[in-house]
Amino acid sequence: MKPQQGLTVVFEPTGRKAVVPRGVSLLEAARKAGVTITTRCGGKAGCLMCKVKLSAADAAGVRPPGDIERRKLGSALDEGVRLACQAAVWDDVNVQVPEDPLKAAVRRKLEAARRGEEEELW
Ligand code: FES
Repeated sequence: MKPQQGLTVVFEPTGRKAVVPRGVSLLEAARKAGVTITTRCGGKAGCLMCKVKLSAADAAGVRPPGDIERRKLGSALDEGVRLACQAAVWDDVNVQVPEDPLKAAVRRKLEAARRGEEEELW
């Protein structure tokens, strides 16, 4: 484990990085790295929009989930899903940020339109 200062958080798929002190939430680290993670609750574990994913190897890079995160995520924790607003950086870590749901819907529509599967975009 590295000293408390200067832990590196890498956000995939962009590869953007932030260097943060231990204990900072992944949501704060993402903001520092210029990575957008959409939220509605302001980081209070209420909206569940800040889900990110960690590989098994990266799970030790954040503090274990607390009661709130366990209650909110349930079995998804076993698949490496964490709430960026609740997961605190503990060591160097790589984080998978899923595509924004609205952007994903637009992308799918555009791809379908390009393939000629839909006559109208909406
Ligand atoms: S920001 Fe709403 S649950 Fe994390």
